Amino acid sequence: MRHLHALLLNLAGRGRRLQQRRLSRAEAETLSPGADHYAAYVGPPTEWDLMGATQFRLLCALGLRDHHKVLDVGCGSLRGGRFLLLYLDRGNYYGIEPNRWLIDDVVARELGEELIRLRAPRFSSRNDFDPSEFGTAFDFVIAQSIFSHAGPDIILPALRNLGRFLRPGGLILATFIHRETNREMPEEAPGWTYPGCTTYSAPRILELLGQAGMIGRMLPWYHPRQSWYAIASRHEDIPPEEFDVHLSGQVRSGFE
Ligand SMILES: C[S@@+](CC[C@H](N)C(=O)[O-])C[C@H]1O[C@@H](n2cnc3c(N)ncnc32)[C@H](O)[C@@H]1O
Repeated sequence: MRHLHALLLNLAGRGRRLQQRRLSRAEAETLSPGADHYAAYVGPPTEWDLMGATQFRLLCALGLRDHHKVLDVGCGSLRGGRFLLLYLDRGNYYGIEPNRWLIDDVVARELGEELIRLRAPRFSSRNDFDPSEFGTAFDFVIAQSIFSHAGPDIILPALRNLGRFLRPGGLILATFIHRETNREMPEEAPGWTYPGCTTYSAPRILELLGQAGMIGRMLPWYHPRQSWYAIASRHEDIPPEEFDVHLSGQVRSGFE
């Protein structure tokens, strides 16, 4: 009897989640980040557009060209991916996303199968940050709001894996949440924390990069809650500080 009750509850929960996934973008705006809808699971649903555009703009500011290959780690519902797969040459956008339903829903609801056939992005559902199955190296790897949910036990192997697949001159762009300005959140929580976040002090981020054999620095690019880092294996590949005047990415407010 207890098993039957649990089964019925489970079925009802699954039904509710499926119904939620079918909400329109406007209806989904009241959902909390992490809810089962392609525009909400990946962050505040009212920012789904903005957080995609800001990733694309950062890559363009850093010299992205159509012949480049881009790996979007934890690409989610293609917030940034939908801009990238249109801009890049056919087949040059790669995404890793263990929650495949996010890609399926955004393709069904926003992009369409025909676009996917034309632009030929490649996707993997792996959860170990290993892009070796794609058989290529990348000019840019972007990890937006991934390490802000990950403990050092995830970040270190992830950086080591991803670093092996950077082309000469290539960059990893990743966001972190700074401990210094977010003391109410946990610090360096191990494993994957979601939809909650975990924080790192600025010196600790640089230390983690060093432990993974990488170097990096913070970029002054706009993010409503997190901080962007440029990461590479060679010092000369990190954008010089003189270039920071071109890297504000600030968004005009009051125009919503
Ligand atoms: C906050 S969302 C960010 C999504 C996307 N980068 C964006 O900015 O829209 C975090 C994403 O990481 C994905 N994720 C969770 N574990 C992962 C893993 N082990 N490897 C890659 N992605 C993972 C989640 O499914 C989710 O889509």
